[in-house]
This record gives sequence, structure tokens and C-alpha cells, in this order.
Amino acid sequence: MDASHLAPLLTPAGWALLADLPPYDESTVLSVGARLREAGHPPEMVAAALTQQRLRTRAEAKFGPFASRMLFTPDALEQATRLVVSAHHAARYEHAGVQHVADLGCGIGGDAMALAGLGLRVLAVESDEATAALATVNLMVFPEVEVLCADALEVDLTARGIDAVFADPARRSHGHRIADPEQWSPALGRVLALRDDVGALGVKVAPGIDHAALPTDAHVQWASVGGEVVEAGIWCGPLAAEGPGRSALVLSDPPPASDDPRDAPSARVLRDPDCHDPSTPPVHLAPLADVGALGVYVHEPDGAAIRAGLVAHIAERLDAAPVGDRIAYLSGDALPDASLAPFVHSWRVREVLPLNLKMLKTRVREHDIGSLELHKRGVPVTPDAVRAAVRPHGQAHETWIMTRVGNAGDAQRARGAVIVVEPCEAPTVPVS
Ligand SMILES: C[S@@+](CC[C@H](N)C(=O)[O-])C[C@H]1O[C@@H](n2cnc3c(N)ncnc32)[C@H](O)[C@@H]1O
Repeated sequence: MDASHLAPLLTPAGWALLADLPPYDESTVLSVGARLREAGHPPEMVAAALTQQRLRTRAEAKFGPFASRMLFTPDALEQATRLVVSAHHAARYEHAGVQHVADLGCGIGGDAMALAGLGLRVLAVESDEATAALATVNLMVFPEVEVLCADALEVDLTARGIDAVFADPARRSHGHRIADPEQWSPALGRVLALRDDVGALGVKVAPGIDHAALPTDAHVQWASVGGEVVEAGIWCGPLAAEGPGRSALVLSDPPPASDDPRDAPSARVLRDPDCHDPSTPPVHLAPLADVGALGVYVHEPDGAAIRAGLVAHIAERLDAAPVGDRIAYLSGDALPDASLAPFVHSWRVREVLPLNLKMLKTRVREHDIGSLELHKRGVPVTPDAVRAAVRPHGQAHETWIMTRVGNAGDAQRARGAVIVVEPCEAPTVPVS
């Protein structure tokens, strides 16, 4: 859907209609629509307002209470940076003493909002005319933001007095993700080349980016929110205060609206102390020899730490080893201390079973299992297929980790296994 359907709302009557709508409720939307049309509002304006109200409700997960004053398209909302992450982007610019940032490919203005919120001047550049119009509305409350509808690579940054760049290239086309960074818009290579003009450059990229494609002298930070990996940020020059290397930023889910500072989302950073060039391949440790070598616990590093190549670092700190070759489950006899706990999820091992659906079905029947929490890595089964095959219908609950255990170089010893686990007490993490 493009933004042209929003045109009826960008009129005084449309704006007033949107402002007067009740909160979006799927169960009443048809009757609300009918009532508004009967009251004389044009059908296309009613449709646009109801769509916008639905998008605003969805956008609360990214923008909290600000969503209720913003305009979206489904695509632009999908691509927008959530505020809890863009606030971290913006803090880098503020700490670097930046004055005037160009946000190249600003979309509906998610990052520009956070930059402007810290009092920085922002030139928000967007090549799509309709999206630029939405950014203009969303950023209207910040007088220090200028929205420019232009090709980001055509803007004369020096002439405009820009001293830092943030770019978030579009990584989707016609609803499909584009894997090759040189096919993004603008292409990653073209964006990184802007360092010749502006040293303070930050680029938001796909978390799955190949480490080999990263600039050797940048700091690259992978971010997760509530356990979901959302991005990697390439930070160059003064924006990389921690120096070249890789790190993981683990953010808790933003809580529901609250004025209590103790409810603020927590942010933890884990840096690989041995990595000073983000393009170097991560270290892979030798796995356990076989199932018999499993320890008391199984640990799963946060996805941001996995993408940042920190699995070996975490394993060393836990005195643990990967359960299988290149498998990001670790096993050992120690729990993480409070400084490492935010970056791993730990379970206590109860039993280990072969990954054999017939035997697992028997277990489900014999143990009266009705609910199963399933995790998997490195084995060609899906949780849905396993659930369908073993048919849980009893009263008990179990958590299973389905994975490869042992050394894959030795076909006899690398087995598909189900590790039956139970939750274990996480150490208390001091509030930062
Ligand atoms: C991933 S979105 C940006 C999202 C934004 N950071 C936010 O939080 O709302 C990328 C945007 O870049 C725009 N774009 C793509 N190529 C561009 C170019 N050459 N110049 C300016 N904008 C461009 C796209 O239209 C899209 O809106």
C-alpha cells in the first residue's frame, strides 16, 4: 500500500475526523465506519481514517504514546526503527558532540524523531514523495528538523553544514527482503563512501549481514529487543567511542506506559574484548564430544550476542562448550554471574532423549504431557511438525531443546537429541 490513500486525511476535515475517532477496536470497526458514512463523511475519508487508526494502534509497540499523533503506511511502519533503539542511535550522536545530522532515507521519521528529541538539528532526506509528506507531519513538532524530498546521494552535505550522517537503507522491495547490501537503496557501499565527506557516519543494517562486508575500523553493534534481534548498527569515526570491534546491545521490552523510572527498559552491552576488527570471522570452539559430556545446564546466548560472534566469549566465561559443532547452545556446570545473565537464557538439564518421533510420542503419552515448550537449533525439524507428531493432550508441561549433540566430524557421535530441561533461577541483575 502506498501513501496516496492518506490524501483525504491531509485536509482539515480529514484531520479532524481522525482526531475524533475512538481507539481502534476490530470488533466495532464496521459499525463505526457505517455510522461515520451515515453522518456524511466521504467513504474514502472514513476508510483512510480507520486504516490509520489501526496502524497507530499497531505502531504503539514501536512508538508508544507518540504513535497516536503520527501517520503511517504499513510498509513504512514495518521498516521504522522502534524508539527504544533509535534513542540509542541518537545518544551516540549527542555524545560525539554532533550539531547537524543528515538522516538519509528517513522513512516516516523514526530515527529523525529520536535525534531531534535530543535537540540536534536534523536534515531528514526521503526520496519517496508520499513518505516524505508523512515524515513532514510526524516531525512537525520539531522546528529544528527540515524534511527534504530528494535522492540522499544527491544532497550536498558539505554545503548544508552537515557534520554527521545516519542512514537506514531500504532493504525490502515489493514485500521481499533483499539480502545483498549492494542492492539496498541506497547501496551500502555508496553510503559508506560518504565517510570521505563526513567522518561521523552511522548505518543501520540487517542483523544477518556478513561480517566480511563490515568496515574494518568501525564498531558494529547488534541490538535485540525483548529477545528479538532487530538490527546491526555500523558506527564510524567519533560515533564509535568504544573503538573498532563488535558488541551486543540487549534491550528489554518497553513496558506499558508508566511514569515510574524503575519501569524504564533495561539496556546491557556485551563487548568482545578480543575483537578489534568487526570483519574478522568469529571464533568457533570445539563442541562436546558426545551426549555424556553434557553439563548441569544448557545456555542459549541472546540472538544479538550470537550475531555479534560472542558465543565463544560467553562460553569461555561460563566454562562451557557448544553442545554440537557450530550450535549456539552451550553446556557446562555453572550459571552466569549477574554481569553475564542478561545475555544468556539458562536451563537445568533433566534428561536427554534421542530425536526420534515415535519414542517422543510414547514419552508424551506416558508422562501425560499436554503442553510443550520447544526450542531447536541445527536439526531439520520444526516445532509445529514435532507437536503434530507427538500430540500432547495431557496435564503436564515439559520444555524440550531439540539439537545436535556431539562432534559433527564424527557421524556416530553427533546425534539429533532432545534435551529435556527445566527453568533455573537467574541471578539478580543490578538495575543500571
Ligand atoms: C528503512 S526505511 C527508513 C526508516 C527510518 N529509519 C525510520 O525509522 O522511520 C528506508 C527509507 O529510505 C528511502 N530511500 C530509499 N532510497 C533512497 C534514496 N536514494 N534517497 C533517499 N531516500 C531513499 C525509502 O523510501 C525508505 O523510506
